Amino acid sequence: RQLVLPRKFNSPPEVFHWLPFIGSAIAYGDNPLQFYFDCQQKYGDVFTFVLFGRRITVALGAQGNNFILGGKSTVFNAEDAYRHLTTPVFGRDVIYDVPNEVLMEQKKFIKVGLSADNLRSYVGMIEEEVNEFIKRDPNFSLYQENDNKKWGSFDVVTALSEITILTASRTLQGKEVRDHLDKSFADLYADLDGGFTPINLMFPNLPFESSRRRDLAQNTMSNFYVDIIKKRRASGNNREPDMIAALIEQQYRNGRALSDREIAHLMIALLMAGQHTSTATGSWTILHLAANPDVAEALYKEQVERFMGPDGKMRSPTYEDIRSLPVLDSVIRETLRMHPPIHSIMRYVREDVAIPATLSAPSEDSVYVIPKGNYVFACPAVSQTDPKIWKNSDKWEPYRWSDQEGVAAQAYKAYLNENGEKIDYGFGAVSKGTESPYQPFGAGKHRCIGEQFAYLQLGTIISTLVRAMELKIAKVPDHNYHTLIVMPKEPRIIHYRRRRLD
Ligand code: HEM
Repeated sequence: RQLVLPRKFNSPPEVFHWLPFIGSAIAYGDNPLQFYFDCQQKYGDVFTFVLFGRRITVALGAQGNNFILGGKSTVFNAEDAYRHLTTPVFGRDVIYDVPNEVLMEQKKFIKVGLSADNLRSYVGMIEEEVNEFIKRDPNFSLYQENDNKKWGSFDVVTALSEITILTASRTLQGKEVRDHLDKSFADLYADLDGGFTPINLMFPNLPFESSRRRDLAQNTMSNFYVDIIKKRRASGNNREPDMIAALIEQQYRNGRALSDREIAHLMIALLMAGQHTSTATGSWTILHLAANPDVAEALYKEQVERFMGPDGKMRSPTYEDIRSLPVLDSVIRETLRMHPPIHSIMRYVREDVAIPATLSAPSEDSVYVIPKGNYVFACPAVSQTDPKIWKNSDKWEPYRWSDQEGVAAQAYKAYLNENGEKIDYGFGAVSKGTESPYQPFGAGKHRCIGEQFAYLQLGTIISTLVRAMELKIAKVPDHNYHTLIVMPKEPRIIHYRRRRLD
């Protein structure tokens, strides 16, 4: 058969809007998922919309994800899309403030700090932090009162955000950060975080008061880390099982070691990358468990069966345990399916690029072309909740993951790399994971590096909470899309009761 090459180039369909510069900002900003689903109905998987003067082409579905996340960084570029948001927060010379090849080297360095040995040493520390937190936090007063009859209540996001920063600093960030997690660090963190919002992403050059505070906080925090690194170097002891210890040892391919400032900025980047994503995922998980007591009981039973000793006391889980608890694993996977914390993954288009006809084309003899200067957005949340792919797509059903032949298990398999590993940020290679409809940690070159740490941290936090308390809520709240990371809307008050007295 003769190969017929397309002769005509068209622009992807454009979403209708009344207001020239603002475009679809209101519909997109309020509920991007609804906006994507509505546009998909009208225009198909590929369309362009205007967002505060920027032209954004969206490619939906597993093929759309694959097209964008599997793309080359010379065509779909992450640093051009994120730099103006992340550099003022993380600091210079790291992540998106450097060319893609340098980021890939930095990810390799980070991976050393996330070694299995380090992760193995974290489980006990995380468990201890969670237990100590509930024993002292005023919202968990029933633990101080030693009462296991009454029901108390707590705001899930407030509790999980404290638990997340306590556990991340005790482990990855290192003991100096944990020791300083007092008022001054909390204020610095809050100011830095105040400059890490959708407004900063959209209007990086406007002189907001929050941007001034962010810049001051960045400077102080950067010095705080540099000070820790200098003291560590001076002590001659670099054996802590944490990220600073790993980064101090690393060298770029040209033989240059990381500077103290680069290490400091990578540490801030990791703090920011993990904090909201894990807080959100932990909060959604606890909300669903509270709304589905049967699943919470199955999770508790799994803990009892695996860890209860003849003396009636539960032993601590190990790293290997946390990786092999099917109910716990399914609960986290399902939560990430319905609530991936990042709703739009962004790239800047550096070169004109044709959309594969199999994804979307105006006719047999023409293709769509995305012009240089546009942005492209991938949205795995759409394929993760597409009713054509997932049965009861809008229902939280963790048991869908235990059917080995089912859609979920297949999607998960397709998300692993060739070696069956979860983490794949393929240096140059396009990972197999870009073809899956399930991609809560992204895919391809920029795939999340914190996935294993996040699973370990969340798994241990959730196990510890479920061992300690029963949970109750009438309804899981809707999504709040006004923050950079998708959070549950208020009110999100969980009722709890102590399971046992110590
Ligand atoms: C990248 C999700 C936790 C570090 C990403 C991306 C996603 C993601 C979707 C891809 C962004 C893109 O392609 O533009 C998540 C989720 C988490 C989580 C759902 C928790 C449930 C963490 C943690 C860390 C981390 C704990 C650090 C310890 C990073 C880094 C990148 C990244 C450094 C940038 C990679 C790059 O651009 O190449 N994450 N993340 N993440 N994540 Fe995570």
